[in-house]
Amino acid sequence: MELSSKKSGALKGAIEVPGDKSISHRALIISSQATGTSKVTGLLEGEDVLATAEALRNLGVEIEKKNDEYHIKGVGIGGLQESAKLLDMGNSGTGVRLLMGLVASYNFNSFFTGDKSLCGRPMGRVTKPLEQMGVNFITRENGRLPLALKGLSPAIPIEYELPVASAQVKSAILLAGLNTPGKTSVIENEPTRDHTELMLKFFGADIVVKGKKITLKGHPNLKAKKLIVPADPSSAAFPAAAALIVSGSDITIKNVCINPLRIGFYKTLKEMGAKISYKNKRNECGEQVADINIKYSKLKGVEVPAERAPSMIDEYPILAVLAAYATGKTVMKGLKELRVKESDRLQTIYDGLKANGVKAKMTADSLTVEGGKVKGGGLVATHLDHRIAMSFLVMGLGAENPVKVDDGSPINTSFPGFVNLMRGLGAEVSLARAKPLVIAVDGPAASGKGTLSRRIAEMIGAPFLDTGRIYRAVGLKLIYNNKDPKNEQEAIAAARELKAEDLTNPRLRQEVVGQAASIISSYPEVRKILLDFQRDFAKRKEGAVLDGRDIGTVVCPNADLKIFVTAGVEARARRRYRELMGQGVEVAYNSVLDDLNERDERDSKRDVAPLEAAKDAVVIDTTDMSAEEVYLKVRDLVNRLL
Ligand code: S3P
Repeated sequence: MELSSKKSGALKGAIEVPGDKSISHRALIISSQATGTSKVTGLLEGEDVLATAEALRNLGVEIEKKNDEYHIKGVGIGGLQESAKLLDMGNSGTGVRLLMGLVASYNFNSFFTGDKSLCGRPMGRVTKPLEQMGVNFITRENGRLPLALKGLSPAIPIEYELPVASAQVKSAILLAGLNTPGKTSVIENEPTRDHTELMLKFFGADIVVKGKKITLKGHPNLKAKKLIVPADPSSAAFPAAAALIVSGSDITIKNVCINPLRIGFYKTLKEMGAKISYKNKRNECGEQVADINIKYSKLKGVEVPAERAPSMIDEYPILAVLAAYATGKTVMKGLKELRVKESDRLQTIYDGLKANGVKAKMTADSLTVEGGKVKGGGLVATHLDHRIAMSFLVMGLGAENPVKVDDGSPINTSFPGFVNLMRGLGAEVSLARAKPLVIAVDGPAASGKGTLSRRIAEMIGAPFLDTGRIYRAVGLKLIYNNKDPKNEQEAIAAARELKAEDLTNPRLRQEVVGQAASIISSYPEVRKILLDFQRDFAKRKEGAVLDGRDIGTVVCPNADLKIFVTAGVEARARRRYRELMGQGVEVAYNSVLDDLNERDERDSKRDVAPLEAAKDAVVIDTTDMSAEEVYLKVRDLVNRLL
């Protein structure tokens, strides 16, 4: 999926970037080990974290989203069950390494795999200490994924000195120590992010940090918590950098985690002369948080010391881009670990800089960038690396010529909504294809098409219209004006009055409104009136994703991709029932089932636009699929078009 960016006007606005990736993984994992139900808001809904949620579900943990909160029903320490499925961690190094640690001290077997990038990354750094705790592994050559892990309970507590500065390895050992008798210690010579330690303490673990040594006492009594995940400073780095290079910019990024072990990048920016300030500093759930204001600044090159690398390890790609805009040379040292990230990041950065006419020098563990004007015009190979994709898209915003990245789809692993958010600030980022992409998603009630469509829209950076909301908005007008949806003339009048702002009314989700919508949507005249509204939406220059019942057949018969998602009525009734109960709506399962049956009947029998898949639609039966599996399947279909 090629994306492209070009020289933009001043970026302005106050934004929120998604939740911190590291903290989100830990929130799910540590909550799973507590007693009681933890409630987490602000969780990053990126593919990486959702893969961890899915793996935990396979290990017997109930995780549900209720409104904006994730509820994780802890199984307690020792309470996980063997997964019947292969644990596919996608692109996520953190997910796989932390979970390998978590299941290490259980008497069962686990099987892990991931995407092409993850299967190329070293796992020996985790398998080695876990072997000392009594775990057996079968791996591919050089400790690569896929691998099989035979856990041991009780495991052997160890004291382990980290040979590489890695928070993931440290965390894997500590998580293995949870279900291990006695004390498990990790010694780290260079401090790395300490979210695991902070969160374990927050949940009530006995964990002591003395100098370089972290010691956890096994079998702590972890109690469920309410947790707020702050925004990710590594994600915030992209809009921050964009504001620094686009003249006249002034933006604020809210609620960002400013844990001292994560903000080496911001420290470096200050040294480069960036106008950057923290406001509203506070502590939330054990983490420091602030709003960050960034203004366009003239940057100068600096030397970034090797000791700073762990506190900004994920920010080198975007720092290298900024260095290209700074006057003079920027020297970055201590970059060996970059070679084993989602891609060989040092090489990928270097190649990306060269492709865009930037002078750079690379050694085994350092990078020197000579700044000035950036020519751009290059096509950057991202190698399944989200941060490479975002960094070079930021580069294009100030370059003389547009910059393209060959595959923007991995951005959804850590920063869903990146393209739309940047656009909201005024940045010119878009799909590189000349013609906008229109995707139609249809299916019966409660088939999961809404969540799926939103995520696909985020991936391609297109606006998304849930067309059900249009019918709901008309239904809502009728109900709250004491009119009967069964009166066709009244419905027609209400449809004529519909305005865009009606679509954001929070009452739209109410079940009575849905029932009214189902009735009025069978009137041909109402459908005709609302058709233009939908077609206009699909004509936007950014493309569009529309979900509904007749998008592929009637509204956008020429859509580039048509998906029809369906599922057995009972599976859908179960999903809808759980969703309603989660929202605090007391309903009986049987009435949900009856209601869906009734709607299916009406949908398929109505004269205009009966619910049916377009002839050229890809039909996906989701009865036995998780939402994640459906999304990944559709993501692949979209990628084939781009
Ligand atoms: C992470 C640690 C770092 C970082 C990664 C997230 C974590 O990896 O690059 O994005 O959440 O613990 P290493 O532990 O490999 O340095």
